[in-house]
Amino acid sequence: MCRFLVVVVVVLQCLLFHTFALTASVPNSNDALSLLAFKNSVSSDPSNLIQQWNNATSSTFCNWRGVTCGGSGRVTALRVTGLGGGQLSPSLGDLYELRVLSLPGNMFCGEIPAILGNLRHLEVLELQQNNFSGKLPFQMSYLHSLQLVNLSGNALSGSIPSCFVGSVRTVDLSNNRFSGKIPVDGLTNGCDSLDYLRLSHNFLIDEIPRQIGKCRNLRYLFLDGNILEGGIPNEIGFASELRVLDVSRNSLTGRVPKALGSCLKLSVILLTDLSDDEEEENEGSLGYNDSFRGEFNAFVGNVPHEVLLIPRLQVFWAPRANLAGRLPGRGWTDSCALRVLNLGQNYVSGVVPESLGICRNLTFLDLSSNSLVGYLPSQQLRVPCMVYFNVSNNNISGTLSGFGNGSCGSTGTPAAKDLEFLEWEGYNGTLVFLFGDF
Ligand SMILES: *[C@@H]1O[C@H](CO)[C@@H](O)[C@H](O)[C@H]1NC(C)=O
Ligand SMILES: *[C@@H]1O[C@H](CO)[C@@H](O)[C@H](O)[C@H]1NC(C)=O
Ligand SMILES: *[C@@H]1O[C@H](CO)[C@@H](O)[C@H](O)[C@H]1NC(C)=O
Ligand SMILES: *[C@@H]1O[C@H](CO)[C@@H](O)[C@H](O)[C@H]1NC(C)=O
Ligand SMILES: *[C@@H]1O[C@H](CO)[C@@H](O)[C@H](O)[C@H]1NC(C)=O
Ligand SMILES: *[C@@H]1O[C@H](CO)[C@@H](O)[C@H](O)[C@H]1NC(C)=O
Ligand SMILES: *[C@@H]1O[C@H](CO)[C@@H](O)[C@H](O)[C@H]1NC(C)=O
Ligand SMILES: *[C@@H]1O[C@H](CO)[C@@H](O)[C@H](O)[C@H]1NC(C)=O
Ligand SMILES: *[C@@H]1O[C@H](CO)[C@@H](O)[C@H](O)[C@H]1NC(C)=O
Repeated sequence: MCRFLVVVVVVLQCLLFHTFALTASVPNSNDALSLLAFKNSVSSDPSNLIQQWNNATSSTFCNWRGVTCGGSGRVTALRVTGLGGGQLSPSLGDLYELRVLSLPGNMFCGEIPAILGNLRHLEVLELQQNNFSGKLPFQMSYLHSLQLVNLSGNALSGSIPSCFVGSVRTVDLSNNRFSGKIPVDGLTNGCDSLDYLRLSHNFLIDEIPRQIGKCRNLRYLFLDGNILEGGIPNEIGFASELRVLDVSRNSLTGRVPKALGSCLKLSVILLTDLSDDEEEENEGSLGYNDSFRGEFNAFVGNVPHEVLLIPRLQVFWAPRANLAGRLPGRGWTDSCALRVLNLGQNYVSGVVPESLGICRNLTFLDLSSNSLVGYLPSQQLRVPCMVYFNVSNNNISGTLSGFGNGSCGSTGTPAAKDLEFLEWEGYNGTLVFLFGDF
């Protein structure tokens, strides 16, 4: 019986090989058909990117522009950008060996086909800057090999699948219309792989999950431009690899947790943001046009010294964040990396500490509209070397000198035109100022 089976198998294999050899000169001609179906669903190709793809050359589809094949002769990567719209063909779901599907900026519309969930080997999914709408199909959760997902700049809605927040390394779902809560399932089940999470500019509600602290390898966290409430959770202090944290433009309250100061690798923190650069950020996106949405974060309590004094911190951006208290008078060290400090329009009191001058890279300082008093240690702060300096609307006094004396090195003595931002009385190399206008 066994012997018979073996024979049958051999005969079948021969037959299959034979049939195959007769109908196609390359392996897996089905991949060529899938690609041609993809081409057919594209509505225009203004730059002739895939024009050469046609059935007369389908035996050489591995050489088609944008197509990469693996050793098996099957398509492993498809990278096309610049097409003029159309739907994404479900035929791509048959490219079973696909590892990279990179189709940014093609003006594709309609829904993302559920059948893409068949692509079990897919590692990179880049569909950003298109016009995809509708919900993400739940079949996406079958993509167990995914490492990078970028769906930024579409019009996708519904909730964020929990499979995307945890096991995938790099996730960018920014500039869409996702709603609901930040899913915690993925975080709870361990999110050791998560390195980059950008959910900016959606309609996410509820709180920042405290489970975010379980993401021990998370380096970049962007949650700006949502409708998040509550405080920044203390548990964020466990995310010890964190480099960049942006929670601006939400409806957050509460104290800025001291625990954030345990994230010793933090380099950039944005607690609030009043700048109006949304259009720039959304350039190229056909989908959701997020015009300026305002800043509604209103924290309570004092400027967190533990955070400001993180040695690697380069940017602390918290204008109109409702923060009170004083600036740290001690604790600054000569390894201070601070470049940008924006605490404008808060309730900061006391003096501008002389010791802040030890932060030699500080060239952007906005302390305007606070309750600061006393003399500004302008010599120590090297104010003439700064590119932005605004201490208006305080009760500070002092003398500024040394403008344009060429001692600022490569950071450059700002030219007179760059000094427009200075709220001053006059400029002739020796600037005397008194900002007492409350
Ligand atoms: C190639 O496609 C064209 C148009 O779609 C069709 O007319 C032609 O028969 C096809 N040729 C082959 C060899 O399949
Ligand atoms: C984007 O898709 C929507 C439908 O989902 C459509 O109304 C709109 O015209 C599309 N925009 C562009 C620029 O194609
Ligand atoms: C995702 O795509 C957008 C738009 O092209 C880009 O700005 C962003 O950096 C990408 N995100 C990642 C993580 O590469
Ligand atoms: C987005 O909206 C703003 C304000 O409504 C408008 O000025 C801008 O032109 C829009 N941008 C796009 C790309 O549609
Ligand atoms: C200050 O900036 C320079 C130039 O970017 C950099 O090499 C240096 O490490 C910075 N200093 C600190 C203490 O971070
Ligand atoms: C500003 O400070 C001076 C002392 O430096 C004080 O006499 C004055 O009352 C203060 N003005 C206001 C409005 O607080
Ligand atoms: C030039 O200005 C810098 C910054 O204020 C100051 O440290 C330096 O002593 C000044 N040099 C001269 C020659 O005035
Ligand atoms: C300085 O800050 C004040 C209030 O915080 C603001 O109104 C003013 O526009 C700022 N000046 C410049 C030139 O940015
Ligand atoms: C510079 O301005 C100060 C203050 O207005 C004035 O006392 C001084 O005479 C001016 N110096 C020159 C050279 O104009």
